Amino acid sequence: MKSTAGTIARGGALLLALASVGAAREGQGQPAPPGSGVTRAAFGKLPDGTAIESFTLRNAQGIEVRAITYGAIIVSLRVPDRNGRFGDVVLGHDDLAGYLDKPAYFGAVVGRYGNRIAKGRFTLDGKTYTLATNNGPNHLHGGVRGFDKVVWKADAPAAGTASVTFRYTSRDGEEGYPGTLAARVTYTLSDKGELAFEYSATTDKATPVNLTQHSYFNLGTPGNDILGHELTLDADRFTPVDATLIPTGALAPVSGTPFDFRKPTAIGARIAQDDEQLKRGGGYDHNFVLSSAGAGLRRAGRLTDPGTGRTMEILTTEPGVQFYSGNFLDGTIKGKGGVVYKHRSGLCLETQHFPDSPNQPSFPSTILRPGKEYRSKTVLVFGVTR
Ligand code: GLA
Repeated sequence: MKSTAGTIARGGALLLALASVGAAREGQGQPAPPGSGVTRAAFGKLPDGTAIESFTLRNAQGIEVRAITYGAIIVSLRVPDRNGRFGDVVLGHDDLAGYLDKPAYFGAVVGRYGNRIAKGRFTLDGKTYTLATNNGPNHLHGGVRGFDKVVWKADAPAAGTASVTFRYTSRDGEEGYPGTLAARVTYTLSDKGELAFEYSATTDKATPVNLTQHSYFNLGTPGNDILGHELTLDADRFTPVDATLIPTGALAPVSGTPFDFRKPTAIGARIAQDDEQLKRGGGYDHNFVLSSAGAGLRRAGRLTDPGTGRTMEILTTEPGVQFYSGNFLDGTIKGKGGVVYKHRSGLCLETQHFPDSPNQPSFPSTILRPGKEYRSKTVLVFGVTR
């Protein structure tokens, strides 16, 4: 029995060893191998010695997505512009140390609860839970050590697919949350330029769950601001916030406000308007209520950079999207290739349930119960416009 298991394990190791030959070659700057697939490689070590790995997904068009086991972070995403020139469209760092020094959720999966929970408190089934507060009076993105700052386990990549699955088990009581939560995210790149994020989770006690991907996009020139990008959001309403960015509970119409992105509009066109909500967010930092929510996977919006022609369409099963215009970026973070990430040099479109749902009975519920499975899917479709 023992030796059979050993043989299987050795067989697995051989496959991995073959995969990492590709990674070594790539490290020496040689051309990427053609066709779709996954390459596994080392991506540094945490201070405690834990080895972090990277998985590079590649499709037949040459689109390349690299994700690491730390935070399930997407560290790079290379897509072509209208002239076929590939460029990296997400903010991040060249090495692991960058992600540890100045964490800004670049490319990470945020959880157990993406965005804010007011005062780090909620009541569920008659019991009040206290969470870590790490954003003024509030709980943000899962707390002090959210899912963006933990090591995920990767499944061995399956041959012939450009896909990777990361798993993380969050213990009962972690950051104050009830229940052991077994979470999983799968990133899959198709040959049509679609990058899918599929999340699932189960729990042994009722708990709020709201997972999302926190990539900062810049479809143009890294380091430049994103104010010229055109955004469309299929949302008739948004959730206005108080001074600490907690939703008031209202679903306000976007009509006649700077929050109306139902037609493609430059992000910078109205961002400086004298609007109380924009002032509270320091720009856009709001949840948009997707109009066709509840209808499975459907379009949430589209981002276009007129300069390069790059486009990114977003589809999701989620009821909301947090549009964050990179207002907290202030030039103090130096990212990939030494590029300084100045104010609004990246933007996030975080498909998710609404912020503070555990305290807002009228919002769609984020409570996962034992015996049920949390499932969520978002697809980014990359293309170009002439
Ligand atoms: C989300 C929040 C923002 C900010 C960023 C990370 O988008 O809504 O307020 O915390 O994440 O900096």
